[in-house]
Amino acid sequence: MNWMLDYWRSSIGGKVTMAITGLLLFGFLVGHLAGNLLLLSGPEAMNEYAAFLKSKGALLWVVRCGLLAVFVLHVITGIRLARENRNARPIAYARPDTIQASLASRSMVFTGLSTLVFVVYHLLHFTVGVTNPEHFTMETSAGGHNVYGMVTASFSVVGIALAYVAFQVVLFFHLAHGVQSLAHTLGLHHERFTPMIKTASVGVAALITGGNIFLVLSVLLGIVEVQS
Ligand code: HEM
Repeated sequence: MNWMLDYWRSSIGGKVTMAITGLLLFGFLVGHLAGNLLLLSGPEAMNEYAAFLKSKGALLWVVRCGLLAVFVLHVITGIRLARENRNARPIAYARPDTIQASLASRSMVFTGLSTLVFVVYHLLHFTVGVTNPEHFTMETSAGGHNVYGMVTASFSVVGIALAYVAFQVVLFFHLAHGVQSLAHTLGLHHERFTPMIKTASVGVAALITGGNIFLVLSVLLGIVEVQS
């Protein structure tokens, strides 16, 4: 156990922890978007999918706890590395690449903490039902949790829809830079590959956050039928 803690505390251990947890969270985002795209297939598809997940009972809670642990580890390690980075800063910036690295690290802390705020709000909104209980308590004709109704009623409120879009823009910058850092930690930094990796990082970040924004706007603009 001690060697694990020592490894985590080392600079490379911290970077590897960020890479592994970042990859797992990225995987969650891909799966979550794939599930949420069912919104386009209508109420039955979306509600059946939500009911299927709920029917997994204990397994769902194991996955949720694992996800929470990964998320907490990602946040704590990221804050620790950013602090170490700041403390190791030379008195005056002599080289432009040092300035660039420091700006990137600061913007990762800002976009990361903003995403943390988003996730807390999002859980209070859709998982706990605190922010909009009137949407959370919507039921299907069979008396089940109406997830389709909850999501469409929420995104038809302009303020909520715009807040989701704004947080997705912030998440885009976090993912675009995070995927590049991940590739760097995995040793993929070579003159020939770096530009390709940059383009691919921006591409995947745009796909995930663009997909989420597309869902929000589909409801707001009336492309998807709203239940209220
Ligand atoms: C338009 C985009 C999104 C929609 C429509 C959406 C929808 C939902 C819904 C309906 C739930 C509750 C599921 C349930 O309890 O039945 C949920 C849970 C959750 N969402 Fe999202 N989500 C979106 C984007 C995101 C993003 C960008 C993140 C992370 C940055 C995220 C993270 C989570 C997490 C961690 C949960 C809790 C999972 C669980 O309860 O098992 N979501 N989302």
